[in-house]
Amino acid sequence: MSILDKCGQYTYADDVKAMGIYPYFTPIQETTATEARIDGEWKIMVGSNNYLGLTHHPFVLEATQRAARRYGVGSTGSRFLNGTLDLHDELEMRLAAFFGKEAALVFTTGYQASLGVLGALVGRGDHVFLDRFDHASLVDGARLGMGEIHRYAHGDVDGLARQLARTPAGAGKLVATDGVFSMEGSIVDLPRLLAVCKEHHAPLLVDEAHALGVLGPDGAGTASHFGLGEQVDLILATFSKSLASIGGVVAGRRDVVNYLRHHSRSLIFTASPPPASVAGALAALDVLIREPERRERLWDNTRRVADGLRAIGLDIGQTQTPVIPVLIGETIQAAIVWRALFDNGIFTHPIVPPAVPANSCRIRVSMSAEHSREQVDRVLETFEKVARELSLVAEPTAQIPSMR
Ligand SMILES: Cc1ncc(COP(=O)(O)O)c(C=O)c1O
Repeated sequence: MSILDKCGQYTYADDVKAMGIYPYFTPIQETTATEARIDGEWKIMVGSNNYLGLTHHPFVLEATQRAARRYGVGSTGSRFLNGTLDLHDELEMRLAAFFGKEAALVFTTGYQASLGVLGALVGRGDHVFLDRFDHASLVDGARLGMGEIHRYAHGDVDGLARQLARTPAGAGKLVATDGVFSMEGSIVDLPRLLAVCKEHHAPLLVDEAHALGVLGPDGAGTASHFGLGEQVDLILATFSKSLASIGGVVAGRRDVVNYLRHHSRSLIFTASPPPASVAGALAALDVLIREPERRERLWDNTRRVADGLRAIGLDIGQTQTPVIPVLIGETIQAAIVWRALFDNGIFTHPIVPPAVPANSCRIRVSMSAEHSREQVDRVLETFEKVARELSLVAEPTAQIPSMR
């Protein structure tokens, strides 16, 4: 049997397409910060991670265009070689200061930042500890390292403590967690986690992908939200969400960042993020800092949608952030709900295994500071209509409260 034979036997995607509920790789023809045109029709976008709505901000757009004109469109080389521009250095300095760390290192994506950091740090004989709901990039990064991987049940800090206690004395340890869990919208219990890490002398890495620009008085993320920025050893973040660009970063102690700079394979053996993307992230960071009112608008929209979905009778789990999962059940049910929302002009995502357990498929909604009051109302009205038509709610639906 050839290794390629399984490809011919894979029919799931085609089967789902035949049912008219295939949700992936939909070509988008044009976008605004809050809408996407698909097959000529504009949909309200609540399926992106454009938390601050900066993808179309004039200052950010202008910075990306200026950088493309000055440096060209591609970096055509590794950070290690010809792929480091003054822009990369500037962004590293700015991000280190923003996260309150000594140094930072910019990668081509957040995913590659995880691979680079965990792959380089967790060597043979070391132990890495991951929350079961951590993002795939942390899991893959841990796999790249040669150490032993331990998964603890989601949020089970006591379970983590037991695993740490069983680790041989003197072994290298690292705990890595999402700050905001990307499929739940919940915030890690950082104070408890940090206390356990300290007790067991395990450095802590926090992935701030969904918290940067969202949490903390300065928008610096979960660590800042809890006032624990100084105590978290490594901060990881992506530019692909609030910073409206593409790229990733790790921030921490100068010697650690210097080691990573010279040992991270996903930094060295790939081209650096292109000039326009770096300039875009720099400009977006400026806007994030000088327009804190965007964060307020994001939270206002988040509260209105979360309250509205609950009032309809939908289950949105334990979310505490602009990531709002609407729990549906089985895969096909989730796809049917997704399709009904899509046909009614709302762009969401069905989240199915392996991203979540088989019986807790969900529609993932994520809010932006740029959503207007009218768009929020349309989203809630559409959910209410679809929930009624597909009998997702047992009781007659409640009135959506005051936001209308
Ligand atoms: C929690 C988390 N970490 C890391 C990443 C990877 O970021 P990037 O899109 O920059 O590769 C993502 C993106 O989906 C994420 O949700």
